[in-house]
Amino acid sequence: METLKRTKVRALLSMEPGKEVLAKGWVRTKRGNKQVKFIALNDGSTINNIQVVADTSLISEDILKTVTTGASIGVTGKLVPSIGSGQAVEIQASEITVYGECDPMRFPLQKKDTSLEFLRTVAHLRLRTNTFGAILRIRNQMAYAIHTFFNNKGFVYLHTPLITESDAEGAGDMFQVTTMDLANVPTHDGKVDFSKDFFGKKTSLTVSGQLEGELGATAVGEIYTFGPTFRAENSNTPRHLAEFWMIEPEMAFYDIEDNMELAEEFVKYLVQWALDHCMEDLQFLNDKYDDGLIERLRSVVGIEFQRVTYTEAVSILEAAIAAGQQFEFPVHWGTDFQSEHERYLVEKHFGKPVILTDFPMAIKAFYMKQNEDGKTVRGMDILFPKIGEIIGGSEREASLEKLEKRISDLGMSRKNLEWYIDTRRYGTVPHSGFGLGFERLLLFVTGMSNIRDVIPFPRTPKNAEF
Ligand code: 4AD
Ligand code: MG
Repeated sequence: METLKRTKVRALLSMEPGKEVLAKGWVRTKRGNKQVKFIALNDGSTINNIQVVADTSLISEDILKTVTTGASIGVTGKLVPSIGSGQAVEIQASEITVYGECDPMRFPLQKKDTSLEFLRTVAHLRLRTNTFGAILRIRNQMAYAIHTFFNNKGFVYLHTPLITESDAEGAGDMFQVTTMDLANVPTHDGKVDFSKDFFGKKTSLTVSGQLEGELGATAVGEIYTFGPTFRAENSNTPRHLAEFWMIEPEMAFYDIEDNMELAEEFVKYLVQWALDHCMEDLQFLNDKYDDGLIERLRSVVGIEFQRVTYTEAVSILEAAIAAGQQFEFPVHWGTDFQSEHERYLVEKHFGKPVILTDFPMAIKAFYMKQNEDGKTVRGMDILFPKIGEIIGGSEREASLEKLEKRISDLGMSRKNLEWYIDTRRYGTVPHSGFGLGFERLLLFVTGMSNIRDVIPFPRTPKNAEF
């Protein structure tokens, strides 16, 4: 007889009954009586379980005893129509193999407490829960959608370095990369002698692939990066990670308007993709955590984002304060908005995503294109409900002269930036780009409220397990 090949649960659930099948996975629950046991089996291919019906006259008690929550098993049997509600088919087991037992006294995931806070304490096992299965599948679909979107537009996926000598955002929140013995650091004239270090200079983990992205865009026209990004800011918030993933498209011959259009089309495409490809998982998250989730996703896809300048937004916030709105942090022209201000604009004032533009020069990075007013730069941030900033970008300063002046005004070291300045020196072009925080996008798409719950292995201050 031919040996049976395994069929994944996702496929089994949409098959016609009648065939002999083999399913493999992990036991979610087992219930029943002396004659018959019902086993809910999940293999991660879908949020849904397949029901296995085990007749105690066919499957020995010794085997059934070890079929407990969390155990891994293989089930051979006939796929039959299910009488119970909730599923069309189930497996009438003729044989069960237990691959790995799971001690019910010790396995942490069957405790009553399945709160997200508790699951963070067993983050190495939480991936096996329904919630994290759903999140991992959505995360995977979103990554696929990102590559598909840019591929369809002819963008080139550019791999930018993770180890770099440049602080692209100029914020100084960088993790240093070194092989020097920290207990015995080589010095020269009382300073650390980086010429003795691995790369012969001071290097760090990248905070953004943008500057290298600009090298690519001014070569092949339109590129995007998609990789890990590192920030050593000591922000213990539900929206910050020390290691997160960022998508950074960079386009030659795009002005700020083209940039905003692309960014809006991009996020709507991703949200629509989730609605089209992840509905079962979204429905699960909607029912379990956030009953406004699916409605919110649909509304974003169908609405035109509100465009407003920073200066207009300051007036709106000042008017709100005058009318009694309370904020923890003050607002006046020149300050960076806090997330409470961003959320007020999005959730209370406009009731839709907002694209904020034309920021004071002093609060934005050196590379942003300067406006004629001499005070503001052509930046754009996209703000989303419940999250705040999800995208940050700008048109870039294409003028060699203005860029050089800005670098020197800020007292930045030119030494590490000559390669970047060359883009303006040789065949400079108007160009633009933006960065989408992958986990911020996932916060929106999954409805989760803590960024630690949308990345499998979160890195935050004082936390780098596994
Ligand atoms: O606004 P940011 O700092 O912009 C840049 O890095 C530009 N170089 C992007 C570009 O123009 N190519 O970061 C971009 C996005 C933010 O809007 C946010 O979504 C996300 O990256 N982000 C973070 N996500 C999680 N944890 C953090 N600590 C983040 N910092 C930024
Ligand atoms: Mg930003």
